[in-house]
Amino acid sequence: MVKLAVIGTGGMAHHQVESFSKIENCKVVAACDVDEKRVSDFAKKFGIDATYTDVDRLLAEVECDAVTIVVPDAYHHPLTLKAIEAGKHVLCEKPLALNAKDALEMSEAAKAAGVINMVNFSYRNSSAIQMASKLARSGELGTIRHVHAYYLQSWLAQDEWNFWETSPQWLWRLSTKAGSMGVLGDIGVHILDFAGMPVGDYRSVNCKLKTFDKGDGNKMGGYELDANDSAIITAEFANGALGTIHTTRWAQPHLNSLKLNVYGDKASIEIDLDESYSTLKISRILGRKAMPWETLDCGTTPTNFERFIAAVESGVQDQADFARGADIQRVLDACFESDQKDKTVSL
Ligand SMILES: NC(=O)c1ccc[n+]([C@@H]2O[C@H](COP(=O)([O-])OP(=O)(O)OC[C@H]3O[C@@H](n4cnc5c(N)ncnc54)[C@H](O)[C@@H]3O)[C@@H](O)[C@H]2O)c1
Repeated sequence: MVKLAVIGTGGMAHHQVESFSKIENCKVVAACDVDEKRVSDFAKKFGIDATYTDVDRLLAEVECDAVTIVVPDAYHHPLTLKAIEAGKHVLCEKPLALNAKDALEMSEAAKAAGVINMVNFSYRNSSAIQMASKLARSGELGTIRHVHAYYLQSWLAQDEWNFWETSPQWLWRLSTKAGSMGVLGDIGVHILDFAGMPVGDYRSVNCKLKTFDKGDGNKMGGYELDANDSAIITAEFANGALGTIHTTRWAQPHLNSLKLNVYGDKASIEIDLDESYSTLKISRILGRKAMPWETLDCGTTPTNFERFIAAVESGVQDQADFARGADIQRVLDACFESDQKDKTVSL
């Protein structure tokens, strides 16, 4: 039985613990949040015995094998380093850190301590993207020349997920002072990982970021609402392919839409998560003739939570590790630099 402690008990922690509770050989033994009421409500809801408002105390007192870090982005780096120092295996939410230097430090610390380390790139739970990577690796797509990907949300424009003006979980995402890297760090990080899975490493990026006016002087509770809301990236990959990747919080009526097209010289694929997580469309190319799109059933794949618990049990690292989190963080840093200097940045 893997004993797990959850650090942070907000929106995503609810989803995480619901998922961990379904895994037979995993027990959530403790929860921690700086907000006492929140952690106590959370513990009651999920039947967790031990609650803490201080991570140091939890790490000193709780007998657990692993922790999952589900706090706002700015706290991933310090809390993960503490957990590693205490010898715990760590699942950390995305983005791994606020910059590549911190992300690399986390990756190196985990490696040195020999603990399982994973970052929760949730859309790897789609068997379609796992299949796409497999097809690319096996050469079935041929030489990849062109890539198009997006991740679209609209929580600034509608209230399906509550009003952003009054919801703490949205407010910290709008201010750089609260540690937000804007839409780029929040969901751009997912689509950069997703597109890179079948295509490979990024060689360079050119990125344009924009923060839109939100009224009331763009301030709320002492915080300036200055984190970017939309990002357009043109990328060159190490294999020479070119891609466009874009993301925003303003794209009505999309609630949470991810789409990826990869065009190779032997086959092209399309994944649309609004349609399915477990199928992809493929058009195989015979000679110069593209065959009609077929739907490929990609079966199932373990969730990141299942992978993490299995990795802790077996001692064998699974995807996506902190090194991958740090690689994607380098791409985020390059995107910020590109936007600031208005030029293409090499990785
Ligand atoms: N993988 C995904 O698809 C996905 C989806 C949503 C959120 N996330 C990530 O999950 C993390 C949490 O997001 P959320 O939406 O749950 O935010 P949230 O604001 O709903 O919850 C964060 C919680 O952390 C607590 N907290 C803050 N500082 C803390 C500290 N130092 N120690 C302990 N607790 C602390 C807050 O009180 C709050 O309860 C973020 O990093 C976010 O990017 C990932």
